[in-house]
Amino acid sequence: MSIRSRSAQERTPKHAAQGPAVQDPSAGEAGASAGAAGVAAGGTGASADGTGASVADRVRGVRAEDILEYSAEERRHVRRRSWRLLRELAGPVKGQLALVMVLVIVSNAARAALPLIIAWAIDWGLPQVVGAVEAGQSPLPTVLLVGGAYVGAALLAGGLLGGYLWLTARASQQMLLNLRLRVFRHTQRLSLSFHEKYTSGRVISRQTSDLETLRELLDQGVASLVSGTVFMVFTAVSILILDPIGFLILCIAFVPVLILVRWYQKASEDVYRRSRVSSAKSIVHFVETMTGMRAVQAFRRQRANDATYTRLATDYRNDMVESLNYFGILQTALVAIGNMTVVAMLIVGGFRVLDGQLAVGVLVALLLAGRRVFQPMEMLAMFYSSLQSATAALEKVSGLLEEEPTVVEAAEPALLPGAAKAGEGVASGRIEFSDAVFGYGPEKTVLSRFDLTVPAGQTVAVVGQTGAGKSTLVKLIARFYDLSSGSLTLDGVELSQLSQQDLRRNVVMVTQEAFLFSGSIAENIALGRPDASLEEIQAAARAVGAHEFILELPEGYDTDVSKRGGRLSAGQRQLVSFARAFLADPAVLILDEATSSLDLPSERLVQQGLERLLGNRTALIIAHRLSTVDIADRVLVVHDGQIVEDGTPAELIAAGGRFAALHQAWEDSLVSEED
Ligand SMILES: Nc1ncnc2c1ncn2[C@@H]1O[C@H](COP(=O)(O)OP(=O)(O)OP(=O)(O)O)[C@@H](O)[C@H]1O
Ligand SMILES: [Mg+2]
Repeated sequence: MSIRSRSAQERTPKHAAQGPAVQDPSAGEAGASAGAAGVAAGGTGASADGTGASVADRVRGVRAEDILEYSAEERRHVRRRSWRLLRELAGPVKGQLALVMVLVIVSNAARAALPLIIAWAIDWGLPQVVGAVEAGQSPLPTVLLVGGAYVGAALLAGGLLGGYLWLTARASQQMLLNLRLRVFRHTQRLSLSFHEKYTSGRVISRQTSDLETLRELLDQGVASLVSGTVFMVFTAVSILILDPIGFLILCIAFVPVLILVRWYQKASEDVYRRSRVSSAKSIVHFVETMTGMRAVQAFRRQRANDATYTRLATDYRNDMVESLNYFGILQTALVAIGNMTVVAMLIVGGFRVLDGQLAVGVLVALLLAGRRVFQPMEMLAMFYSSLQSATAALEKVSGLLEEEPTVVEAAEPALLPGAAKAGEGVASGRIEFSDAVFGYGPEKTVLSRFDLTVPAGQTVAVVGQTGAGKSTLVKLIARFYDLSSGSLTLDGVELSQLSQQDLRRNVVMVTQEAFLFSGSIAENIALGRPDASLEEIQAAARAVGAHEFILELPEGYDTDVSKRGGRLSAGQRQLVSFARAFLADPAVLILDEATSSLDLPSERLVQQGLERLLGNRTALIIAHRLSTVDIADRVLVVHDGQIVEDGTPAELIAAGGRFAALHQAWEDSLVSEED
């Protein structure tokens, strides 16, 4: 019975106890559509826990994030997934890796031959030299032959060592580059619903600390593994050639070594996995604190954050210390076994030399080889330690890569009316929801049986209480999420059937955050149309009233927004994002509280820009401030995911419902503000 299978069984109940956390229902959304991919990839799709989630689903991405111990089946799946990723990474550098193998084998064969040459020098060379001197001949040919063989083997071993180290470095860096790009591209492709659950801190820890761990393995680990193994095999073979009894002693010594390594593997695996999780947790907390610095300082959260971070970082330290302790035990025990083997060889060999059964040269060579045969074991232990930590990293990274986007582009996109091919369609902007149902997770629906038609060119204001579902409504139109059921069309074409290009070309959403990328103001405006000329960029900025403040910046349109001096106020950022939307010229424009950062005078200024921005396009505007609503053709009042009032602003005010009340409150607030 192996230690491994017993503890795997012991672990199962523990894992089952964690069930609810692992089977987090909020992850169901991502799990459902990705199930097929998991089955295809892993081959073990059957549900083991009766919840309908397959093994692949349970150990992927968001769901698996904080699992510390896997069941036997999950462990197998995860391991297969990690190896598959490693194989895929090795694919493009196969040729280099094969060459590395050849170099390693030849170089280690030469290195392992050195004790053999010494034995030969003592037992054959020495008598030859003595004989030659006694016969009055020159011993030089023998000295040259033996010396030449030794120096030649040593040079070969050294030269090839340099060669394969150089090659491995290149191959491993190439593999890492490919993985880095793959993680970046894949993460970027994943849908918003994934990012909301996984958080940016986790993504960062995948891209930084996990890849760093892999780098250590590939850079140093693999080279030492291959050369260590090859060297050990060659040295063992040379011992066998020299003396079968010495080889027997070696074989006996290997038994405790194997047991030891097995123990280490078992004991350290979970610690390394835990260290990946604790490392990720501390990075997540770090990122959250740094990105939320304003809230941290405003609410004096520093002390509490310090405490949390200290706890997380200490957990990580403890995990690392524990793993290093295991490694220390392994290394010490290996050295001890190595030394005892040499002592055993010396005692047994010594007696045999006295009996005349063993040549002195062979004994010397045996001792040299016996001492060296365990040297790579330490290297292997070191490799194993970085392998354990890299395996845990690989588990996480492969789990992220196995996550599938939930909002995917149709394989054969439908064409917009009048378009010759996908990606070139220009929509008129008619939007229609019919019988639409949507919820962020299975537990709660936000829109149920929702119907709405917005004719092309209409400006619609959406108002309603906080949490009513306004943002949800417009995010669906931008296809950040897909409906659970029902239909949502643009110009009669189902949104989910449109190509990404058609969608992004025709539907643009401007939000309150008005995110700017590092780069110049001009580049930021040109985001929606990278080929725009500077004149067009400036015209867009003029149209929304942003031109004046941009000219006052240190370098005008070339000002870098990430540099000091290029920092914009919230209102200025919104103007830039308006210019961006104006330049992109979409058929459907969505503004989600996009004017809320503007002060009243600027808002009035933007009001004029806004009218130009809206032009003839279809527009949905969510605004808590009702000044924007005045320019709308139609107002929708949303309550609990339903439209409860629908009409022109004047009609709704006359009707005296919710909107009339909101409008009255707004007018009163304006009077008091102007006092
Ligand atoms: N990403 C999300 N994941 C899960 N639930 C969400 C998410 N976003 C919103 N919700 C929920 O959906 C409901 C509607 O939210 P929505 O953001 O559409 O409200 P809103 O009308 O835009 O409110 P506000 O005026 O405050 O912006 C709320 O109950 C909210 O809790
Ligand atoms: Mg909202």
